[in-house]
Amino acid sequence: MKTILITGASSGIGRAAAVYFSQQGWNVVATMRSPEKEKELNQMDRVLVTKLDVLEKETIAEAIAKGIERFGKIDVLLNNAGYAAVGALEAANDLQIKKQFDVNVFGVIHTTKAILPHFRASQGGTIINISSTAGRVAFPLLSLYHASKFAVEGLSESLFYELATHHIKIKVVEPGNVATDFTGRSLDILTDDSLEAYGAYTELVVNKQMESFRKHSSPPELIAKTIFEAANDPTDRFRYLAGEDAEFLMRMRVENSDENFMKTIAANFS
Ligand SMILES: NC(=O)c1ccc[n+]([C@@H]2O[C@H](COP(=O)([O-])OP(=O)(O)OC[C@H]3O[C@@H](n4cnc5c(N)ncnc54)[C@H](OP(=O)(O)O)[C@@H]3O)[C@@H](O)[C@H]2O)c1
Repeated sequence: MKTILITGASSGIGRAAAVYFSQQGWNVVATMRSPEKEKELNQMDRVLVTKLDVLEKETIAEAIAKGIERFGKIDVLLNNAGYAAVGALEAANDLQIKKQFDVNVFGVIHTTKAILPHFRASQGGTIINISSTAGRVAFPLLSLYHASKFAVEGLSESLFYELATHHIKIKVVEPGNVATDFTGRSLDILTDDSLEAYGAYTELVVNKQMESFRKHSSPPELIAKTIFEAANDPTDRFRYLAGEDAEFLMRMRVENSDENFMKTIAANFS
């Protein structure tokens, strides 16, 4: 029986993945910042709910150790925890800038580093990083989030070669819009009252993005199935788009020059 360790399993994609993998007969180490609040996952078969805050390295080590103690071995690490800072770059304070990278990039780096000795000792393992179409194309007012997801893509692509020498696979899952807490309580809205200059533009872009979310968003269960496919894929496939909107956007990206693609995006936000 295989075991997956998931970060950010308290809600959204991470939670849906915990439920789906458990239903498919996997052991699940469902990690989260506040496990004491969890009421359902800990009632499920083969699910260990435990604390992991990607900002606290010692909780990463403890969660991995507890997972190995309970299930003997971890086969897959799902780096899922993340959120978006949204707003004009000028409106972001230093703490907001740093936190976006601490969670979305350094969180992935520290968790990956922490699992690698176990994967090397097991002579195998798979790391799945939740990136996004936002890791390959960019929209306005999301510069910090895009920068963090582009970083995850580069990190993962480089590790693909380096880890292959130890029979460890790394894959990225790239969802489009997903109906989760991502656009609600998890958003970090960058507002600086002195930046009225961006006011009208911000309203326009946010309205367009919210409209796009209402029209095209996948349920987190669909992303969980793509993650499951990636976890069970014996091939060296690296990227897995998830959601019809993600497929559409990336098709549009590869079929157009930089200039044409960016012109289309600019027109959409004007
Ligand atoms: N929703 C989308 O449209 C979309 C699209 C593409 C990619 N993604 C990516 O999918 C991933 C999951 O997001 P989601 O859509 O499922 O949103 P979500 O429902 O807001 O879930 C985010 C999860 O990350 C956790 N988290 C935040 N900071 C953390 C930290 N310091 N340590 C550990 N966990 C932390 C949250 O924990 P708490 O419950 O404690 O806050 C929560 O469990 C993110 O990486 C996101 O960038 C989302």
